[in-house]
Amino acid sequence: MGLLLPLRCVLLLSASLLAAASDFLPGSESSVQPLFARRQIAEEGAARVAKRSLPAWLAAAPLHKIRRRSTEQGDSCQALQGYDAKLAANTHRYTFNDLSGSVSLAWVGDSTGVILALTTFQVPFFMIRLGQSKLYRSENYGKSFQDVTSLIDNTFIRSEFGIAIGPENSGKVILTGDVSGGHGSRIFTSDDFGKSFTHRDLPFVPLMQITYNPENSTVLLVLSKSNELWLSEDFGSTWNKVHNTVCLVKWGRKNSIFFTAGLNGSCIDQGMLELRRTTDYGKTIKTVASKIYSFGLGGRFIFASVMTGKGTLRMIYVSVDQGETWNMAQLPPVGHEQFYSILAANDEMVFMHVDEPGDTGFGTIYVSDDRGTVYSKSLERHLYTTTGGDTDFTNITSLRGVFVTSVLAEGDSVQSVVSFDQGGEWVPLRKPANSKCDATAKDPEKCSLHIHAAYSTAMRLNVPMLPLSEPNAVGLVLAHGSVGDSISVMKPDVYVSDDGGYSWIKALDGPHHYAILDSGGLLVAVEHSPTQPINKIKFSTDEGQCWGVYNFTDDPIYFTGLASEPGARSMNVSIWGYRDSLLSQYWISITIDFRELLTRDCADKDYVQWLAHSDDISDPKDGCNLGYKEKFLRLRKDSVCWNGRDYQVNTQPTPCPCTLDDFLCDFGYYRQENRSECVEQPDLKGKVLEFCLHGREEQLQTSGYRKIPGDKCEGGKMPERKEIDLSVRCVSDLVGPQLLVDGHSSKSVPIVVTVVIVMLLSIAAGVVFVKKYVCGGRFLVHRYSVLQQHAEETAAAEVDDPLESNHTENGKIVFHDDSDEDLLE
Ligand SMILES: *[C@@H]1O[C@H](CO)[C@@H](O)[C@H](O)[C@H]1NC(C)=O
Ligand SMILES: *[C@@H]1O[C@H](CO)[C@@H](O)[C@H](O)[C@H]1NC(C)=O
Ligand SMILES: *[C@@H]1O[C@H](CO)[C@@H](O)[C@H](O)[C@H]1NC(C)=O
Ligand SMILES: *[C@@H]1O[C@H](CO)[C@@H](O)[C@H](O)[C@H]1NC(C)=O
Ligand SMILES: *[C@@H]1O[C@H](CO)[C@@H](O)[C@H](O)[C@H]1NC(C)=O
Ligand SMILES: *[C@@H]1O[C@H](CO)[C@@H](O)[C@H](O)[C@H]1NC(C)=O
Repeated sequence: MGLLLPLRCVLLLSASLLAAASDFLPGSESSVQPLFARRQIAEEGAARVAKRSLPAWLAAAPLHKIRRRSTEQGDSCQALQGYDAKLAANTHRYTFNDLSGSVSLAWVGDSTGVILALTTFQVPFFMIRLGQSKLYRSENYGKSFQDVTSLIDNTFIRSEFGIAIGPENSGKVILTGDVSGGHGSRIFTSDDFGKSFTHRDLPFVPLMQITYNPENSTVLLVLSKSNELWLSEDFGSTWNKVHNTVCLVKWGRKNSIFFTAGLNGSCIDQGMLELRRTTDYGKTIKTVASKIYSFGLGGRFIFASVMTGKGTLRMIYVSVDQGETWNMAQLPPVGHEQFYSILAANDEMVFMHVDEPGDTGFGTIYVSDDRGTVYSKSLERHLYTTTGGDTDFTNITSLRGVFVTSVLAEGDSVQSVVSFDQGGEWVPLRKPANSKCDATAKDPEKCSLHIHAAYSTAMRLNVPMLPLSEPNAVGLVLAHGSVGDSISVMKPDVYVSDDGGYSWIKALDGPHHYAILDSGGLLVAVEHSPTQPINKIKFSTDEGQCWGVYNFTDDPIYFTGLASEPGARSMNVSIWGYRDSLLSQYWISITIDFRELLTRDCADKDYVQWLAHSDDISDPKDGCNLGYKEKFLRLRKDSVCWNGRDYQVNTQPTPCPCTLDDFLCDFGYYRQENRSECVEQPDLKGKVLEFCLHGREEQLQTSGYRKIPGDKCEGGKMPERKEIDLSVRCVSDLVGPQLLVDGHSSKSVPIVVTVVIVMLLSIAAGVVFVKKYVCGGRFLVHRYSVLQQHAEETAAAEVDDPLESNHTENGKIVFHDDSDEDLLE
């Protein structure tokens, strides 16, 4: 197939790395569930909003007004002059004598400047895999490369496993190659930042990328194609088989390993699996839960979906002590066609998506308390396609408590909503001051900004990048979007917020690739134009208000992606692309060092104080968010200077007095509409259900209120205390008391549902892939999974078509894991 497709290369980029940056499950090819509606409806307009409480169907509409950063006066866009010569003197080109179909880039170590570039040409030809790989290495942030293919003996490296970079600054690298026509596997390992490699043939064929123990990079584990769990304690020299029939495996904390095991020699009996744990690398193995459907880790929580014994229903159990004791999460059970997904989790709380019954393409987001057991409804009609595993849910990492996602409004139009208080309430995004409402708006004066994220990518809209934010670039968010009543399928523009998503400006017309450099002091962007060669890069030193343009070459290239060191501290950015002549295509990388542009180091006078979550710094109550306010020192917009690699975010948190809004209602309590007090749920009176807390903890006392996870308020209004023994009232009527009691179990359903748990825990350093679909030949390679990157694409590819891709004929679950992301089905 693919023969009829036009001979134009499709280029796909990928974004940044560094572990914790990602929490989404993006693009898949086949999920075509709800379509973007260009027009729209929805009497009630924007998002549905719920206040933190339980049960939330009683929740009230939000009363908060949107707070924003007091806008500084915009520049006159004249600050930068005569930069062309300076940049030209700092532009470095490197041409690869290479026609390969894809390039994977990996930064090895932090501030080392070492980049490995792996090019792969791969042809899936019936069962035989033919391919060719080349390896290049740079020690100067990509300004020049050395062809080091000889280090890997010209072995074909499996690009879908990518380059596995060790955690921390270990300098470890693993490449997984095919030998004897794909029937054997060989790894190349390096512990000196890719300078030298040693190779070792594996006694098995890996099913997934080898994963590092996040706390000890000499210990590796991997699943084999026959579902055996293999472990190495000496960085890949020797391997021990730990267990047979392992369906899913993950590194936990403190050198622990969690995995599900099939009892009957196969993983097909989902719902009958056992969850096991080892803390001594497989010497002793303990079963910590049974009747498991799947599991996931997030923050300090371990989640397991467990069959309830009622038909095909399953529900979530949570452990915060490494699986020793489990509590039932107060979440609705789901049937086999539904799924749970951990959207984001840290040590304090979790955002959990629960799919709606039926093929609706949406579900409900719940936010947990600090135990992971009591949940409040946070957002209804949350867009998350069942088949594709696509959600727009995004943690805005540049401002505490801010999250953006999409809802499916009536009439299937997609609308963006933002929460500034960790899911407490969700509101539409403000219309950018310098934008007009588009054709989706009923009222040309009143509309909001809508952000394109993973769902748009999956729908193949012209959106080259997901929203971008970095913890060290305080307040800054870059995203593609449109302005109207719902998201538009027309060409998006790039919008920038400098206050964590409260206010926005349109920064660039049309789709772009963008990157944050120098902790936000410098933004760069390149127009996304897959069919036209380009020669321009845009840059801004004032958080996206004014943009300079620099022609980086006289001979335009077909652009595939921007690459800069993960962590946004670099001043070097590489523009990757290729040249296309009649006879050949070859990769080219152009690296620009912007250091000369920002000639001086920033001094104290270059920074101003900024109070987050506030629009009036003089109001003492203003800016309180989850119990405290934070002042930051931020670079003035009109300062053209260098923050430097060692720049630290400077923040001064001060606690706020508590109000009832700093508390959520504990289990058995709820808030009446428009009220702050938590009152007892009448329907639970007199119910005695014993299995709520399934562990040692038999008595749970509650006052009806619990601090919102992460809330640090002090003093002020403390709720009246009321001690209640929860052992007699702690289960909703969602499950019966026989839960987890062995006996007549349900038939487990051999249906593979979709994905679920995306995690934050992640490892390894950044790996960026710039991919070019093979074209011009006779095959169109059409696999997203080459971009192993944040797992984003990987997950997508897997989920794409669960029935086919997850099960092989002999009933084994083929599984995929990837460092950054967990799938819990
Ligand atoms: C890492 O694990 C290896 C193998 O078990 C052990 O010898 C080594 O001491 C560990 N290193 C650290 C820092 O814990
Ligand atoms: C294993 O398979 C046999 C036959 O299919 C079945 O009777 C038995 O219940 C299974 N055991 C488990 C633990 O699934
Ligand atoms: C969101 O991102 C921030 C910054 O990386 C992180 O500290 C926080 O824990 C994340 N929140 C959740 C719920 O994952
Ligand atoms: C940059 O290139 C464009 C064509 O793409 C050209 O019109 C423009 O004059 C060039 N600018 C400079 C400063 O060379
Ligand atoms: C940019 O690259 C050069 C080496 O080519 C390196 O010395 C410099 O530290 C890099 N700049 C930053 C800010 O990373
Ligand atoms: C709650 O507040 C909203 C807005 O102020 C109001 O429209 C609604 O009637 C109130 N509901 C109750 C039950 O008081």
